[in-house]
Amino acid sequence: MSDLQYRDRITFHRALEVMEVDFSGLTFGDEREVDRFYDEADGLLKESGSRWYFLVNYTDSDVNDTAWARFAERGKQTNINYSLGSVRFGVSAHVREEIRSQAREQAEFRANLYESRDDALFAISELHKRHRTASKQRQYLLEVSDIHLHFGGVRALDGVGFQVEEGEIFSIIGPNGAGKTSMLNVISGFYKPSRGQILFDGKDRTRCNSGQVARLGFARTFQNIALFKRMSTLDNIMTGRFLKMKSNVFYDAIYVGRARAEEEKHREQVEQVIDFLEIQEIRKTPVGRLPYGLQKRVELGRALVMEPRVLLLDEPMAGMNLEEKEDMARFVLDANEQWGTTLILIEHDMSVVMDISTQVVVLDHGEKIAEGAPDEIRNDPVVIRAYLGEH
Ligand SMILES: Nc1ncnc2c1ncn2[C@@H]1O[C@H](COP(=O)(O)OP(=O)(O)OP(=O)(O)O)[C@@H](O)[C@H]1O
Ligand SMILES: [Mg+2]
Repeated sequence: MSDLQYRDRITFHRALEVMEVDFSGLTFGDEREVDRFYDEADGLLKESGSRWYFLVNYTDSDVNDTAWARFAERGKQTNINYSLGSVRFGVSAHVREEIRSQAREQAEFRANLYESRDDALFAISELHKRHRTASKQRQYLLEVSDIHLHFGGVRALDGVGFQVEEGEIFSIIGPNGAGKTSMLNVISGFYKPSRGQILFDGKDRTRCNSGQVARLGFARTFQNIALFKRMSTLDNIMTGRFLKMKSNVFYDAIYVGRARAEEEKHREQVEQVIDFLEIQEIRKTPVGRLPYGLQKRVELGRALVMEPRVLLLDEPMAGMNLEEKEDMARFVLDANEQWGTTLILIEHDMSVVMDISTQVVVLDHGEKIAEGAPDEIRNDPVVIRAYLGEH
């Protein structure tokens, strides 16, 4: 151990978006020391409220064999949460070997090793440039960043952020109480976050209420079915069009012809969705009499007739049998393909999530603990632990 505190080894160069870490002369002897360092670093990073390029000085430093696994795992987690990219210099042959072997195991992990601090800084400036051009070219449909939502003492969401591309099937998973429904409620404008930002189509809509969000092209289904039980399937689905009808009242009064054309369009849209969901036979049935799986399908119908650009589904397959789940998964995939609808989905059934998602975010206790393609998430020890910890 050296006499420097871990905290003194971390410097934030704000103008460069660089966090510099000085491991020089330091050996991590065991897992406890690794944890102490990362607890400290994560704390500072969290406080900073943003992401950084990591510039790490490994001169004369080492990690004991017994501490490597922990060092790699904690490093990976910190990268997921806070890094814009990592660059290392002064790495000894032994450490170089370990880092390279890690790089071989993880497809997108880049070792990024440089001889000197100058070379490493230059590499960061190149990364910076590349990111700037990339972010100019690729616009996300939805960007959620640093969302905080508290209920009294409960931190339902604590600095959660992610980006969704147009046309994605984006899943949010995590144990009970992780904050999944809260996240959906924030996106749909039902809850106001105390901190954070939501961009839709590049525009800030953090402050929009749920009606405004719906008008922008968001529709949703609920964890607990929210239909009018005594009304028929058809009428329930029709309610999904109200939003669009109301916005036309003014025109309707003036242009009778246009009003007729509008009504025709509403009917057509509803019929199209009823066909799509294969529920012609139950169009007149009061929804309360339908089995649970079909009720969920009607609720999906009501959301689809809104012609949403983004569809938010909160556990659409919960409580369903296998066949109903397969049907629902098919409708979700078809909607995505046929109308290009972007989907944000909360689901507990892992096999469904892994089958249909393009990207998965994992929440636990209000924090994002992992994000990636289904294959990366399936094998992530942090995710596995969060789920096991539930029981
Ligand atoms: N309206 C509310 N008032 C008070 N606390 C709330 C409210 N909504 C959610 N919470 C709390 O926030 C935390 C996150 O809840 P949330 O419903 O978002 O979790 P979830 O991931 O959807 O869980 P589940 O899988 O059980 O649906 C929980 O501790 C919950 O008790
Ligand atoms: Mg929920």
